Amino acid sequence: ARLAIFVSGGGSNMKAIHAACLDGRINGEVVAVVSDIPSCGGVSYAREHGIPTLTYPLVKKGEAAGQGLTASQLVDGLRNTYDAEFVLLAGYLKLIPGELCRAFPRAMLNIHPGLLPSFGGKGYYGERVHKAVVASGARFTGPTVHFVDEEFDTGPILAQRVVPVYPTDTPKQVAARVLKEEHAVYPHCVAALCDGRIAWREDGVPILWEAK
Ligand code: GRF
Repeated sequence: ARLAIFVSGGGSNMKAIHAACLDGRINGEVVAVVSDIPSCGGVSYAREHGIPTLTYPLVKKGEAAGQGLTASQLVDGLRNTYDAEFVLLAGYLKLIPGELCRAFPRAMLNIHPGLLPSFGGKGYYGERVHKAVVASGARFTGPTVHFVDEEFDTGPILAQRVVPVYPTDTPKQVAARVLKEEHAVYPHCVAALCDGRIAWREDGVPILWEAK
């Protein structure tokens, strides 16, 4: 299946997914990488691997000011130019336009570094999630892969993994433990998406069927 991946930072989840496409664990190919930050690590990686890159949304300040697509150009590009079937958010920090959500119904995933619905929603991203987890005294945390709807972090949950949180942990130690699990669970979910191994309960909860 044809995959478009959205990044804002180092793109380690994108790299894990791309590697899984190259070694056959995912029956997919990355056809475009989209970022709000043209200079980020994920975009550099895409360029090095000959993957087309798009900038969304419009860059307001800095040397890349003025670069970027409108929401309609983005949707048109992903649907028609790149013929993407699925959209994967991987460390992307801007809100996805409703137009894009509607263009990819039950075909857009996001990974959040916390156990939604806890520690999620606007303002809870990256390091802030792990700081809140440590401060809360929670003894477990982990990544959540969910389908994207028009809010932050509120779409139907597809998969979660659990890692321990020790009372002596710093947020950085928790972040590293969670990130390692992200790189396992996200490719696992994308493989199922590409294989059509996801069914939907009548109340809108997705079910991931394992490969035989
Ligand atoms: C990860 O914690 C991911 O869960 C969050 O963004 C962070 C960076 O991801 N969405 P990546 O290394 O850019 O994939």
